[in-house]
Amino acid sequence: MCGIFGIVTKDEQPLGPILIDAAKRLTYRGYDSVGAATLNGTQIDLRKDKGRVDEMAERYNFAEMRGQRGITQLRWATFGAPSKENAQPHLDSDGDMVGAHNGNVVNNVELREAFMAEGMTVRSQNDGESCVHAVERYVIQGKDMVTAIRLAYQDLQGDYAFVIGNIYDDKLYAIKKGSGLVVGIGDGFTCVSSDLPSILPLTRKIVRLNDGDVVTLSWNGVELHAVSDGSRIEREPELITEEMSAVQKGGYAHFMLKEIHEQPQVARELLHLLAHHPDVPSILQAIEAARNVYFIGCGTSYHACLAGSVYFGRLAKRTVIPILAPQFIAQYAPAVNAQDVGIFVSQSGETKDVLNALERAQAAGMTCFSMANVIGSTLTKQTSAWLPLTCGYEISVPATKTFTNQVITFLYLANRLGGGDGQALEALPDLMEETIAMCEPKVSTLAEEINAWNDLYCLGYGTTLPMALEGALKLKEITYAHCEGMLSTEFKHGPLSAVTDGFPVIFTVGPEDVPLIVSGINEVTCRGGRAIAIGAEDSRLRANATDLIPIPAAEAPIAALLTVLPLQMLAYQMSIGRGYDPDFPRNLSKTLTVD
Ligand code: G6P
Repeated sequence: MCGIFGIVTKDEQPLGPILIDAAKRLTYRGYDSVGAATLNGTQIDLRKDKGRVDEMAERYNFAEMRGQRGITQLRWATFGAPSKENAQPHLDSDGDMVGAHNGNVVNNVELREAFMAEGMTVRSQNDGESCVHAVERYVIQGKDMVTAIRLAYQDLQGDYAFVIGNIYDDKLYAIKKGSGLVVGIGDGFTCVSSDLPSILPLTRKIVRLNDGDVVTLSWNGVELHAVSDGSRIEREPELITEEMSAVQKGGYAHFMLKEIHEQPQVARELLHLLAHHPDVPSILQAIEAARNVYFIGCGTSYHACLAGSVYFGRLAKRTVIPILAPQFIAQYAPAVNAQDVGIFVSQSGETKDVLNALERAQAAGMTCFSMANVIGSTLTKQTSAWLPLTCGYEISVPATKTFTNQVITFLYLANRLGGGDGQALEALPDLMEETIAMCEPKVSTLAEEINAWNDLYCLGYGTTLPMALEGALKLKEITYAHCEGMLSTEFKHGPLSAVTDGFPVIFTVGPEDVPLIVSGINEVTCRGGRAIAIGAEDSRLRANATDLIPIPAAEAPIAALLTVLPLQMLAYQMSIGRGYDPDFPRNLSKTLTVD
């Protein structure tokens, strides 16, 4: 995990403000520690510590940092606790080279021992430092930087990208292996970063890197070499036309709130795209002809897989096995073959658990498709066809708009496979808009009233079960409370014992399930619990639930999707009420590129 950014300019100049801004834009990738280094002809200025960008930049006065080159890094801790020592960038033994990485060097422990045995100075437990020493090892032998990086690549196992520079030349060097890395080419500078938000304010001309690319950044251009044989790679830069405002908060207090409100619009765009997408017919054909079909993902994306499997069963009469990516490896990989089809679902397209499952599935000959939000991500490059989620940047760590667009993609595919033409979904974006407007005030009051509870349940049934699970995940992620999602009918088989006076139990209600849910509601209320129903206006719900958060009336598959919107909002409001930052919950990361 983590985020890196490096910049090369012509002459020494103030680089601190550029590094601070780049770091802020990469905050969603990690915020356990922050560091910045600037390089001049003869010296390296390195400042780093545990903490967040704003606080760190002020404490260490990043703004005054000058140099001809600069590197910044945000860490999401894997190897080594969050600390000053483990913060990145890292120096080599004699302090004339500095570098930082994102990703995960899996043989870090063995490498550190080897480096120490070879007489190098190892100052931390962090695997980013291993990247620096791995290069140092060959520089000491007199190799040039590109060759040293190519040789280091053979020693560093895992998936990572790193950027490194020394005081003896005026360049930075970087390599991509399994983690995202993009180059920016500007007027009088070049830069490299884990992701576009830190590059786009500086330049719109970019070069996307592939795994195994080694890049040399000079102030007036970049050179690409293949890690395998050092041969020169020619790649034309591309121009990014997206508006930068897309990566800013657009007037909302938090990215999460902005992204919740963006859902109807991105749903509209997605439905337009799907109606004309050239890969939809072939994906449907493959699913139809398959022996078994698997929907594979992690976290929120897994909940979308669950929703997809419900839709495929109900609308297309097609059994689909939804499965968490690591469990797919353990349970199904030995059984799959070329007759099977998998759709790998991921917002980032970089989740290591998902990529591992993909690798196993492909080795078994399975036909693999993907659904991802990040264009050019590893997942999209490694599958024969992929469907974009068209959400734009999702900055907030808790996924919202990418989840609903994953679910809508599945809903659309199931509708088509079941003989529909997708028209039935046209009303969906407007209904989402209506839902958000309807639920916001009621949810704010409710959030205040139940915010003292640190245990709650979120129950669903049939089409709404995946939404209840996703709602519970949102609540866990950003309120730090324990919230369990489960099938409503299971609640009486154990968790009911937790119910005391006022204990909050949320029910997501589909239009076909009201009588069943009313029973569940009464099991809670008769024991003093607070039953909160999220569903279309209904006298039975009004009469039985403690609270009703009404959503517009719709058919079951669409109604189910609508129920997740108030849950996202509730999680957001409760998080704010507790004084937390919903965009960047503690201990979590937007993109998990580690096992
Ligand atoms: C991390 C994020 C979750 C996300 C999961 C899968 O754990 O914190 O919000 O659902 O990864 O991410 P993906 O990018 O594959 O959808």
